Amino acid sequence: MIKTMLLLFLTIAIASVCWEAHGGTTQNAEAGACLDCHGQKGDSMRFQDGSKKEVFVNADEWAQSVHGNILTCTDCHRDISGVPHTPKKMQDARDFTLQQSNTCQRCHYAYFTRVLDSIHYEMLKSGLREAPTCVDCHGSHGIRSLKTPRLEVNNRCGSCHTDVFDTYKKSVHGKLAMAGNNDVPVCTDCHGAHAILNPNQTQFHLNSYQICAKCHADQEKMKRYGLNPNVLTTYLEDFHGASTKAYAAELRDPKKPIATCTDCHGIHDIVSFKGGIARANILKACQRCHAQVPATFTDAWLSHYQASIDKYPAVWIVKWAYRILIPLIILGLILHILLHLWRLGTRR
Ligand code: HEC
Ligand code: HEC
Ligand code: HEC
Ligand code: HEC
Ligand code: HEC
Ligand code: HEC
Ligand code: HEC
Ligand code: HEC
Ligand code: HEC
Repeated sequence: MIKTMLLLFLTIAIASVCWEAHGGTTQNAEAGACLDCHGQKGDSMRFQDGSKKEVFVNADEWAQSVHGNILTCTDCHRDISGVPHTPKKMQDARDFTLQQSNTCQRCHYAYFTRVLDSIHYEMLKSGLREAPTCVDCHGSHGIRSLKTPRLEVNNRCGSCHTDVFDTYKKSVHGKLAMAGNNDVPVCTDCHGAHAILNPNQTQFHLNSYQICAKCHADQEKMKRYGLNPNVLTTYLEDFHGASTKAYAAELRDPKKPIATCTDCHGIHDIVSFKGGIARANILKACQRCHAQVPATFTDAWLSHYQASIDKYPAVWIVKWAYRILIPLIILGLILHILLHLWRLGTRR
């Protein structure tokens, strides 16, 4: 019995030595050496301003992360060689994070180039150290894909943008998103994740209807929620939409603000019309731009409806009267001219 156990032990030992010699786990072995110290709590690094930060790395989180089986510690910490490490000059913990964030771009260059155009990067360059870098959104040793579950994105952006997040959570979109629904927008559907543009620019505002159109012009999706799928087409046929589209296409800023989807519906606080409250507030939205119009102002407007025999029959009748009468009149005119010419031709 003891003999068999010894034999088994020996076989496993030899096999594992061969495996390591083969290169199979050298990466993990290297990480293991670092984790001998860093896998335990207690040690800290010190900064020039007198503050400290623990140098603990959670080995389990690291092993399960996207890099755990692929990279080793020194793939990112290329400046670490001996122990004790050569001390670095760093003002505080934020300084360290900003420095370490630069390592990501070595392998994920495409993402880095996208970030270059973002409002966050612009803020960072202008000296706002709190603006997020790769590490603030992704973490360092426990990185997992942020694509699923989608609501994780909201938590990530919302951890800094708490005001917007609180408002959003109560909106028609946010309520469903936080319950795990994938049909409603999370922060990145409207803003993107890396190339986040400055939302206060007029051109962003003019083009914002296209963000909404991604879903609200999707017939299938809208049918599932019993919503009107023609909100985009009716908007673009309307004076507001037609003007917005023209200005956006010409990259021109309008002299006075024109209504886009968000001017009437709100942005992070969009509510449903199903309860009826939203409809009562619509007049207030119009009055922001059409000062002092009477309550009947909204009645004279088709909203997102195409005129039909049931809805706005008067408009429908006028529209069809025009559609029938105008061709008839033109036909009559042509006939009149032809008959006239014919008469001229036959009168000698
Ligand atoms: C003998 C224990 C020990 C070993 C082994 C060790 N470290 Fe450290 N490490 C420390 C201590 C203590 C600190 C905090 C003091 C300091 O900054 O030197 C530290 C700090 C760090 C820091 C933060 C400070 C800096 O200079 O960037 C990093 C990153 C780091 N270690 C990475 C590694 C890596 C990677 C390995 C493996 C190649 C490793 N360490 C191996 C003890 C160790
Ligand atoms: C994908 C790149 C990457 C790999 C791989 C990596 N690190 Fe780090 N490490 C970072 C970044 C980025 C920071 C800065 C984190 C911060 O400031 O919040 C960091 C910080 C540290 C620190 C300072 C304490 C802290 O958490 O801020 C230590 C210690 C450290 N790493 C050790 C290790 C060890 C040990 C390994 C291997 C098991 C390892 N790192 C693998 C990117 C990496
Ligand atoms: C030495 C090269 C290297 C460095 C440095 C590096 N990564 Fe990676 N990263 C990889 C590889 C390889 C993969 C796995 C391949 C893949 O899925 O794209 C990966 C995967 C990822 C993924 C998941 C990708 C996916 O599609 O699921 C994220 C997120 C990520 N890395 C973020 C970071 C961040 C943030 C940093 C900086 C702290 C960083 N990486 C530093 C090589 C690197
Ligand atoms: C403001 C937060 C934020 C910053 C800053 C950021 N990312 Fe991301 N990143 C995300 C989100 C959210 C996703 C999820 C996918 C999506 O919605 O596009 C993502 C996706 C990714 C992916 C695809 C893998 C995945 O998670 O599914 C990689 C790789 C990646 N980021 C790398 C980086 C690198 C490298 C940097 C720094 C140059 C960076 N990111 C900066 C938020 C951020
Ligand atoms: C680590 C904190 C942090 C995280 C995480 C973060 N942001 Fe930011 N964000 C900032 C800071 C700081 C600013 C610049 C100051 C400001 O205007 O609020 C900013 C600015 C912005 C702006 C421009 C605001 C304006 O008024 O000009 C938008 C839009 C934005 N972030 C969206 C996002 C989205 C979307 C995410 C998630 C993918 C995200 N942020 C994640 C900190 C963060
Ligand atoms: C349905 C699309 C949509 C969603 C979802 C969305 N936003 Fe916005 N957000 C916008 C639009 C559009 C603007 C700019 C409005 C304008 O045209 O003036 C904006 C503006 C902002 C601003 C700058 C103005 C302000 O109010 O401070 C920040 C910051 C911001 N969003 C962050 C977020 C965060 C964080 C989330 C997720 C919790 C989020 N947004 C979700 C569409 C969206
Ligand atoms: C990722 C897809 C998506 C995007 C992008 C999106 N929405 Fe929605 N929206 C939905 C879905 C799905 C619902 C239905 C939710 C429900 O019925 O509870 C909805 C509901 C609504 C409602 C409530 C309708 C009602 O009366 O019940 C309004 C208003 C609305 N969205 C406006 C907007 C505006 C404005 C934008 C752009 C700033 C936008 N949405 C962007 C998917 C989206
Ligand atoms: C000038 C103001 C205004 C603009 C601009 C506007 N809407 Fe509306 N929207 C309304 C009003 C008012 C209603 C309520 C209609 C009703 O049921 O009487 C409404 C209703 C809706 C509904 C609910 C439809 C349903 O089936 O109940 C959605 C979704 C919607 N709008 C999305 C959008 C989108 C997307 C845009 C931009 C492409 C947009 N709206 C532009 C005023 C506006
Ligand atoms: C963000 C500002 C804004 C909001 C909000 C707004 N409008 Fe307008 N509206 C305009 C501008 C600007 C024009 C002129 C467009 C043009 O010249 O093409 C206009 C034109 C009109 C016209 C055409 C007649 C005219 O006065 O030129 C009507 C009718 C109208 N809007 C109705 C409404 C209704 C109803 C609402 C509310 C549901 C509303 N608008 C909300 C900016 C707005």
